[in-house]
Amino acid sequence: MLILLKIATMSFLDQIDNIKLPQHIAIIMDGNGRWAKQKGKLRVFGHQNGVKAVREALEGCVKANIKFLTLYAFSAENWNRPKLEVMALMELLVTSLKKEIKTFQENGVRLNVIGDITKLPSNAQRKLQETIEATKENTHCTLTLALSYSSRQEIVDAARNLAQQVKDGKLNADEINDELFAANLYTQNLPDPDLLIRTSGELRISNFLLWQIAYSELCFLDKMWPEFTKEDLFKSIVEYQQRERRFGKTSEQL
Ligand code: FPP
Repeated sequence: MLILLKIATMSFLDQIDNIKLPQHIAIIMDGNGRWAKQKGKLRVFGHQNGVKAVREALEGCVKANIKFLTLYAFSAENWNRPKLEVMALMELLVTSLKKEIKTFQENGVRLNVIGDITKLPSNAQRKLQETIEATKENTHCTLTLALSYSSRQEIVDAARNLAQQVKDGKLNADEINDELFAANLYTQNLPDPDLLIRTSGELRISNFLLWQIAYSELCFLDKMWPEFTKEDLFKSIVEYQQRERRFGKTSEQL
């Protein structure tokens, strides 16, 4: 009886196998708007509560010793949302960075960004650069925010870079391979995600890390993003560890 009670109250953290940890977790944080609407509130209320879930995800990664966390915070397509919502999201980004810098330093979190941040308001660009600079020596966990990010645009940019190098005579077209292509993506300093989580029950990728998730394990949760907790993260890691990653090989070859 006591054993059953112990199992029921055990955190998924205790079930994580530290030998088989995912190195990199990427998350599509979806469902803020619907969560707020269900509560009869404005969409912005959902985003405000989404920040708490960001903290949960980051603290969970620090606790579980996950080295890379990448969050889809604002897509290139999100610029088409109502102006007030876009402004509120940019403001939330700035206030969150101001608030969280202490947590980043205490937990050894290094901030990184991918996406076209030149489109962001200048105060947001400044705050991001400041935080990136202030945390650049931290080594426990790299938090990458995808902001004004489009994976197709990232792939087009890489192709354009490589084409220019060929045109300038610095590169032979037949030298272009997987590795060189990946080295021209915004994520050149990150390993590919081992695990991709999406909340809100939607089953799509929405132009996020299309190249990088070629062999990622996908985990779709029915919860809305503001409801996401550390336990959800730990549970997803346990599920990931139960999968067999074959990378095109057979079970017997592994
Ligand atoms: C998706 O929900 C969420 C976003 C577009 C923004 C995510 C932003 C945050 C969690 C807060 C700010 C982030 C940081 C890093 C400080 P949705 O609005 O598309 O929800 P819906 O699909 O229900 O409409």
